[in-house]
Amino acid sequence: MPDALLTVSGIAAGYPNKQVLFGVDFAVHQGEVVALLGANGSGKSTCLNAVSGFVRPWSGSIRLDRQELAGWLPHQMFRRGIIQVSQARDLFPDMSVEENLRLGAWVRGGPIARLLDGVYASFPRLAERKNQTVRLMSGGEQQMVAIGRALMGQPRILLLDEPSGGLAPNFVNEIAAIVAALKRQGVTMMIVEQNIRLALSVADRFLILRDGRVSQRHDISGGGASEEDIVRSIYL
Ligand SMILES: Nc1ncnc2c1ncn2[C@@H]1O[C@H](COP(=O)(O)OP(=O)(O)OP(=O)(O)O)[C@@H](O)[C@H]1O
Ligand SMILES: [Mg+2]
Repeated sequence: MPDALLTVSGIAAGYPNKQVLFGVDFAVHQGEVVALLGANGSGKSTCLNAVSGFVRPWSGSIRLDRQELAGWLPHQMFRRGIIQVSQARDLFPDMSVEENLRLGAWVRGGPIARLLDGVYASFPRLAERKNQTVRLMSGGEQQMVAIGRALMGQPRILLLDEPSGGLAPNFVNEIAAIVAALKRQGVTMMIVEQNIRLALSVADRFLILRDGRVSQRHDISGGGASEEDIVRSIYL
């Protein structure tokens, strides 16, 4: 197998007085989708935030290609193409859809008109509402803006933290279809999801975090682990 795109090894991280990650190791290859599953508080967001630079690791290594990035700041990670859609989405609510999207291309540059066309092709609903204030959109539409804005940065790896979180079932299906389409386009992704069915429908592999450690690793193609087994190993 060729070298991984992203290689995370021995990451310890947390917050003042609270260690959350205790030596997390994984790799993500080009074009792969890896799901990170785990109970609330197991450290999934902390792990994505360590990769995107929003949490500074206490020790360990984060390499993109072969370049060591542990300790880099979020904008430096972004510039290298590690782009996260955070659990809170972090949009600019008083700006329009298109203004939010354009900001996504600000740091990495690139052909903005072509990138916008690509996002509108993936999200026709955003094309219809490009001049609308984000604040007035539904949660699902805002999630589309957040993913679209991340795509404007031409991610080498896209980190999605609970893209279906808090959304109505029809939007969950729509988000699942969007993630599947991105995968077909070859976008490398890490996805954190509480919706295990969604995660399993798009992932090539998944990891289960338990109390800040990777407790299980599975290939989806290998079969074996049923949804029920997975739920059991996450919560019991
Ligand atoms: N900014 C912070 N300051 C202090 N503690 C934090 C902070 N963010 C998270 N924590 C704590 O770190 C632990 C791991 O949190 P994290 O958000 O990584 O979990 P998670 O697996 O993403 O959970 P969820 O499924 O609820 O999103 C939790 O105990 C949480 O309370
Ligand atoms: Mg989280």
